[in-house]
Amino acid sequence: MTSVQIPDAERVVVFDTTLRDGEQSPGASMNLEEKIRIAEVLEEMNVDVIEAGFPISSMGDFEAVHEIAKQLKTSAVCGLARAVRADIERVAEAIAPAPRGRIHTFISTSPLHMKYKLQLDPDQVFERVVDSVSYARKFTDDVEWSCEDGSRSDHDFLCRCIEAAINAGARTINIPDTVGYAVPDEFGALIAMVRSRVPNIDKAIISVHCHNDLGLAVANSLAAVAAGARQVECTINGLGERAGNAAMEEIVMALRTRSDRMPYTTGVRTENIMRASRLVSAITGFVVQPNKAIVGANAFAHESGIHQDGMLKHAGTYEIMTPESVGLSKSKLVLGKHSGRHAFREKLRELNYDLGDNALEDAFARFKDLADRKKDVFDEDIVALVDDGLVRAHDRIKLISLEVECGTRQARARLAIEVDGEPRVCEDVGDGPVDSAFKCIKHLFETDARLKLYQVHAVTGGTDAQAEVTVRLEEHGRTVNGQGADTDTLVASVKAYLNALNKLMVKREKRAPSALSA
Ligand code: KIV
Ligand code: ZN
Repeated sequence: MTSVQIPDAERVVVFDTTLRDGEQSPGASMNLEEKIRIAEVLEEMNVDVIEAGFPISSMGDFEAVHEIAKQLKTSAVCGLARAVRADIERVAEAIAPAPRGRIHTFISTSPLHMKYKLQLDPDQVFERVVDSVSYARKFTDDVEWSCEDGSRSDHDFLCRCIEAAINAGARTINIPDTVGYAVPDEFGALIAMVRSRVPNIDKAIISVHCHNDLGLAVANSLAAVAAGARQVECTINGLGERAGNAAMEEIVMALRTRSDRMPYTTGVRTENIMRASRLVSAITGFVVQPNKAIVGANAFAHESGIHQDGMLKHAGTYEIMTPESVGLSKSKLVLGKHSGRHAFREKLRELNYDLGDNALEDAFARFKDLADRKKDVFDEDIVALVDDGLVRAHDRIKLISLEVECGTRQARARLAIEVDGEPRVCEDVGDGPVDSAFKCIKHLFETDARLKLYQVHAVTGGTDAQAEVTVRLEEHGRTVNGQGADTDTLVASVKAYLNALNKLMVKREKRAPSALSA
């Protein structure tokens, strides 16, 4: 296996951890198929390293890293391991098929973590650093070592561990701000301190991994790059533990837009940012806030008259980067019921979708159906429609029909579904239309699953907008997210519930042991 090559001194390696740290967000669990889809999009974006999971933590994580390792061609795949030999062996096994595979091993170095979490003294931690890194090097030359809670570690001890990790063979040294406590000048100074005090630091790339507890993850990452870090660990939409990780789209676009102040480059194809953001949001059910930088629905919207007037005169008046640079469609072409296959295919290409023939035919048929019900089919509708088809491709429980009576009288739903090809029908009343429809599902398909989240999001404006629904279910400690999109909110709701049940069925069959987390 070969390690990541850095072509020049100003190139910043982008290490995406949406599938590992991102998935550690409560409720953001993803199944294998979804992780593979996200990994494919990340690779198309030209992300350098994809951290695909923590293989020892569960069979699901192992499989995700292993399958992604088989599929990736250009991005390196990485798996996380504690400073424990069994963890490292499991990562080595998972990444074995990859042309480029990385083992990422970590241990805490702060006094607080060593004393209370690890219950080890600094010398014992030091020994584990040397042992874990040298052991990992037996499997690959691409080994990353992280000092968890690095930003709250004693500087002398930190430098001693980093020097030893590099001597043991680590090629990337990652310094996390695990609890999002650092502020930019302090974090930049920490990186500068490491560069000036660790004698063999030139033999490794310095990486940073910032959490967003104080909303400073991106600012801290950029301060670290200015101080000499050349890898940033980040996630799409800033997904991650607690307040999340540094958002990849913000780091990448800040570097690109302000190259005058920050003359560093990444290899990321920024035109794929929106696609990745929408996919991660749809899969996890974590809606992107409208005013979120780069990927929020309002990030490129100009509402006030003064701004609109300025924009018409010169886009640069209020726009510091173009919408196209992050993958928002250039053309204002809106499809409708008269649009043909050619226009539809063109639109998919513009939106960076590359569907095979069958998926394309299926998406086109559903587009025609949608266009019959909705006059203007916007880009957002197409994205929702294509994602909806991909989400449902392998479902064993399918919606056949739904009829609902509601209003000022008691709501009543009649639902027909199919389970492995066998039809099932039910009718029930409920406290509102959603309740009555969900009650029918519960009669037709028995589970111990409890509804944890029911969320509706309008894909576009207008009363004929498609509703995108997320349903989160939990059964015996296993959490799944189901998605559904339709112009009828109730149909979208039932689709989302059934999609979640389909995922639970898969999880039950696998009987994955409960997960550890980093
Ligand atoms: O936040 C953190 O310290 C981590 C490490 C495992 C890198 O996620
Ligand atoms: Zn983290």
